[in-house]
Amino acid sequence: MEKDGLKIIFDQVKKLGQEMEISSVIKSGKEATVYRVFLNGELVAMKVYKNPEERDFKNTSRYLEGKNYLKPSHRKAVAKGNRFSKKLKYENWVKREFFLLEKLYKLGVKIPKPILQVENAIFMELLGDIENAAPRLCDVELTKKEADKAFQSVIETVLIFWNFGIVHADLSEYNILWWHKEPYIIDFPQAVDKRTHPNPFELLERDLKNITRFFGKFIEIDFEEVVGRFE
Ligand SMILES: Nc1ncnc2c1ncn2[C@@H]1O[C@H](COP(=O)(O)OP(=O)(O)OP(=O)(O)O)[C@@H](O)[C@H]1O
Ligand SMILES: [Mg+2]
Repeated sequence: MEKDGLKIIFDQVKKLGQEMEISSVIKSGKEATVYRVFLNGELVAMKVYKNPEERDFKNTSRYLEGKNYLKPSHRKAVAKGNRFSKKLKYENWVKREFFLLEKLYKLGVKIPKPILQVENAIFMELLGDIENAAPRLCDVELTKKEADKAFQSVIETVLIFWNFGIVHADLSEYNILWWHKEPYIIDFPQAVDKRTHPNPFELLERDLKNITRFFGKFIEIDFEEVVGRFE
């Protein structure tokens, strides 16, 4: 099954006149598998979303609130929640992550640079090299000084997202990678538009709490002051 999925990606990439070669798997989780790949000879990361049949969209629907399906047949399918609707939501999910990466990367923040999206795959800057992939923040022991600098950097990034109109909505030490002593935020498909979501501030506060809880193990943080920066 996974092989078939990859073949479609290979074919599409070839059609675009590009060349890819898989080097290794970085991580295989329940939502996606992330590979180290050579794309036109350059080492990049490829995130391949799992097939919708294997995924559970229960938790995703609330993030898609306010999302419009242009075709009435698509709207109907999504309202009914049939198999076709699963496929639609899934395609949307992949496109949405790439779309958000593109928008946010332009703001000059520390996130992987998006490169290409085909089918259920996103190619982006590899945080890592041929031997090592950047560890998640949860797996790193920070010094006080590192923690202080990284915390300020993450909060500044979240503030840039917020001022731009986006809340990550799944932010924690599990979705931040540590590379060259800098934090990079990853994993955006569930991010919400604060202008169309009913409770963006609630989601923002949850993100800020997670970040504060993690960095609070290393440094002292005044949570109210942090939240105050967003008001
Ligand atoms: N650009 C990247 N460079 C290096 N490693 C990456 C990159 N993007 C993702 N990874 C690795 O892949 C893992 C999963 O990526 P991500 O968080 O985007 O997917 P996910 O939807 O949470 O997947 P899962 O639920 O399967 O963990 C990350 O924790 C990280 O280890
Ligand atoms: Mg993740």
